[in-house]
Amino acid sequence: MKIGIFDSGLGGLIIAHSLINKLPEYDYLYLGDTARVPYGNRSQETIYQFTEEAVRFMFDHDCELVIIACNTASAEALRQIQQQYLPAHFPDRKVLGVLIPAAEEAAAKTKNKRIGVLATVSTVNSKAFVREVEKLLPGSQVFQQASPLLVPLVENDALKWAEPILREYLSPLLQKNIDTLILGCTHYPVLKKQIEEIVGRGINVISQDEVVPAKLGDYLSRHREIDSKLTKRSRREFFVTDKTEGVASLGTKLFGENIELQLAHLNQRS
Ligand code: DGL
Repeated sequence: MKIGIFDSGLGGLIIAHSLINKLPEYDYLYLGDTARVPYGNRSQETIYQFTEEAVRFMFDHDCELVIIACNTASAEALRQIQQQYLPAHFPDRKVLGVLIPAAEEAAAKTKNKRIGVLATVSTVNSKAFVREVEKLLPGSQVFQQASPLLVPLVENDALKWAEPILREYLSPLLQKNIDTLILGCTHYPVLKKQIEEIVGRGINVISQDEVVPAKLGDYLSRHREIDSKLTKRSRREFFVTDKTEGVASLGTKLFGENIELQLAHLNQRS
């Protein structure tokens, strides 16, 4: 059985790469819903439906455990998947998100309990980061900033235009005197250096590609019953729901290595 990594598109390949680097022995299946990306401006109902279809595809392809690398799907669909879909359809499988690991890291790092979040519009509207951080660190204050222009900048290889936009998004958070900033979107690790230069050394920047692999390793060592079902032949498969030359070259760029993409049909059972 494999570890599945799901994202609305290709940004999740950044986290997939760091997971595979940290835990190389496992077999992985990546699924990016490139036909329907972005999820970040969609309704909760639509995000849930897309995520459920993706999770079912991954379970049908022998994933024991699925990591939802997409923050928007983690924020808008994960709870319903865990509390309703899994017990009804796949009671033995597990689905985890990327939001709680980032919230835990932020709660551990902050000194003044003032935490900023950069994320998509849907993630911000869900207030999922606010809930999770406040649960972990009562009395903390979480300030969110929706940053809808950042994903298109990364996808269009347009980082040279990012700086003024980043300054615009970061300025309200800096005015709140935050000491910790969560990059709450799959694509933002690519912008981490630029963000660190703008916010300065005094602010902890939490990037999920640096946090999630260790948390997964820890989870698997605590859940031997899951780990024992996972095959360890270092196999990797990469699926997308729409395959073009642009998708292939962006995929290779974000993963940092050549990858072969297969086409996934989410509504058909294998
Ligand atoms: N994967 C999404 C996230 O992490 C960003 C791209 C999108 O909007 O679908 O929130």
